[in-house]
Amino acid sequence: MTLRKNVSLKSYNTFGIDVKAHLFCDISTIEALKYHLAAQHGNPLFILGGGSNMLLTKDIEALVFHINLKGIEIISETDDKVIVKAMAGENWHEFVLWCLKHNYAGIENLSLIPGNVGTAPIQNIGAYGVELKDVFLSCDAVDIQNQDTRTFTKADCKFGYRDSVFKQELKGQYIITSVTLELEKTNHKLHMDYGAIKQQLNDSGIVKPTIKDISDAVIAIRQSKLPDPKKIGNSGSFFKNPVISIDQFKKLQNSFPQVPSYKVSEEMIKVPAGWLIEKAGFKGKRFNDYGVHNKQALVLVNYGDANGSDIHELALLIQKTIKRIFDITIETEVNII
Ligand code: EPU
Repeated sequence: MTLRKNVSLKSYNTFGIDVKAHLFCDISTIEALKYHLAAQHGNPLFILGGGSNMLLTKDIEALVFHINLKGIEIISETDDKVIVKAMAGENWHEFVLWCLKHNYAGIENLSLIPGNVGTAPIQNIGAYGVELKDVFLSCDAVDIQNQDTRTFTKADCKFGYRDSVFKQELKGQYIITSVTLELEKTNHKLHMDYGAIKQQLNDSGIVKPTIKDISDAVIAIRQSKLPDPKKIGNSGSFFKNPVISIDQFKKLQNSFPQVPSYKVSEEMIKVPAGWLIEKAGFKGKRFNDYGVHNKQALVLVNYGDANGSDIHELALLIQKTIKRIFDITIETEVNII
């Protein structure tokens, strides 16, 4: 477990931004994690998982811990259910594929989401009608201050839309080391309400889908809309979909009758930020080596050697323009560092 100096983080973030870590340490056991936390001697610390939800705008003047804890194990099972624990450094999609191979249902709609297992609870990853919280049982985490291990139940995590306690009151205080899910071995409940999934299954002529069919449909939809980070740097949705009041929505609808929306509660409505950004004229716009994806305006992209601060400037311009045109504030989903 060596500390390395001035390490490029280009291959450690899905945006592919080339900044340097002052000090870098690859962590592959919990013992090493605890040891290095205790020994950091006041160095500022930066925790890096799959690097899939961050925009790096400058060199990291800190000790970067790359969480590389591996392993998947079955904790217990009955005839119908299985409890599976995956270590934080497992790649999320490979974990989904492992579950599919064993015919364990629950996370097939979350296929192809970039990033690692340990990051999934932080923003309660979600796609195509399913969120992590739907199958989440608990996660283990190490307290950065005193290196104690704590198990967080679903209630402890306070999950919300792309949100959890780890982004709020406990931000920067814990390192998630593993995630435990409860999945279905039989009587799989399929989630096909998301229009595009039904359409995709129809197009493939599938009448009685399996979880593998759902995963394949999700993969096909994602590949048609979202850029592959291995080819074009990106962090998925850069912004969250704004949730606005019914009154504000009515005003918006008066000026823009075609605006799509999803009801959140009796008082609140979610509007797709991708639609607002497209309407504002940004979809497919390219500036040198960065821009807005041409198939999904919610995604900002790095075509090569863009720097993070240029992409950040673009994000600020988009936010300002959306505010001016629609009087709606859109928040970033990605962490700007
Ligand atoms: N839309 C446009 N133009 C665009 C993009 C979208 O008009 O450029 C419209 C679509 O036509 C549709 C609506 O906006 O009417 C919603 O689009 P889509 O189904 O692509 O979903 P989204 O709301 O833009 C969210 C998640 C995605 C997730 C999809 C599918 C957020 C911030 N994003 O996007 O998550 O894959 O739903 O469930 O909630 C991610 O978090 O990184 C991510 C990709």
